[in-house]
Amino acid sequence: MAKRTLSDLAVDNKRVLVRVDFNIPIEQGVEVIASYDQRLRATLPTIHYLLERDCRVILCSHLGRPGGQVAEPLRLAPVGDRLAALLGHPVANLSDCVGPEVAARVNAMDAGEIVLLENLRFHPGEEKNDPDFAQALAAPADCFVMDAFAVTHRAHASTAGITSLLPSAMGLLVQREVEAMGKALEAPASPLAALMGGAKVSDKILVLENLLDKLDHLFIGGGMAVTFLNAQGYATGASPIEADRLDFAREVLERAAARNIAVHLPEDLVVASQFAPDPPETGTVPVDAVPDGWYIMDVGEATAARYAAALESCRTIIWNGPMGVFEMPRFSQGTRLVAEAIAGLADATSVVGGGSTAEAVEELGLMDQMSHVSTGGGASLEFLEGRELPGIAALPDA
Ligand code: 3PG
Repeated sequence: MAKRTLSDLAVDNKRVLVRVDFNIPIEQGVEVIASYDQRLRATLPTIHYLLERDCRVILCSHLGRPGGQVAEPLRLAPVGDRLAALLGHPVANLSDCVGPEVAARVNAMDAGEIVLLENLRFHPGEEKNDPDFAQALAAPADCFVMDAFAVTHRAHASTAGITSLLPSAMGLLVQREVEAMGKALEAPASPLAALMGGAKVSDKILVLENLLDKLDHLFIGGGMAVTFLNAQGYATGASPIEADRLDFAREVLERAAARNIAVHLPEDLVVASQFAPDPPETGTVPVDAVPDGWYIMDVGEATAARYAAALESCRTIIWNGPMGVFEMPRFSQGTRLVAEAIAGLADATSVVGGGSTAEAVEELGLMDQMSHVSTGGGASLEFLEGRELPGIAALPDA
């Protein structure tokens, strides 16, 4: 069922509470904010839309996992300052998200003003979806816009409870995410390919279950390829395999074969004598020649080139998970080659899951060449698994 969107909501001159997801890895230091501001940039269209309609914009977000109490390093003010710089418009950082002082400040707002409430998770009621906390949050606002796609998989006061208290709709970011990923799942231009990587098969089981029957091509890389290769009888050195997922991997390969889905597995691999950024010895070997005691770190160049060539025939590509240990620069090549190949496809729709895949694409400077890069890690995974996201389900139907 389609949900109410921003254009269905009467917002002109209103006090609009906007749930955003400004959860960025601030524990790495405030200086990293600018390099992790994809989620801030992604909310700019909704904020501009509201400013153009003379709204008073009340932004609220969580940051980290403070566990229902104030944690000084998890204050949102430095994030608010970065948003102000991106917008070229002042953002007032408040010191709480509920209570009389917040209400007084919001009441005194002028049209076109923006405030950022303090971290929602400083209050235990947020994660408990406590009705009193939701009520306190809703009190100073006239309506609610859900633009925090990355937290739609949580049923919290600011993502679920609040929607029964204020006229509500999804923001432009959530709408874009739902439309892009929904189309890739429900009405993709074919051939449809899934490129699956990342550390573990177990993280991707439900996505594979949901996607497999719809696919024309399945490409496998990353740590999860180790379990698939092992399931096919290849020696995989010292790389960790998921013994309890070997049967699942075999079953995926059998189901794919029965449905004529082309499965692409690595033919060569980058290996290292130690699992470390700068191991003493590294090399590229054929898939059947991984040395005893060595680690699989990346797909090899021949594999990446073959994947790139096969992707050229695809019209929709769903990509979730890097092809190797991307965070170690010496083992980022496979991910880079595949990302560049996807970015160069003018006629294909590319939908990139959030989390580490989005980080890789951002680091490679290829964000603008992808059709859609999700801002959600866990949320995009759950969406691709076909699960209902509470933060979207709670919104009123259109
Ligand atoms: C995320 O970064 O995936 C979201 O902000 C959700 O955060 P959480 O896993 O702490 O709920």
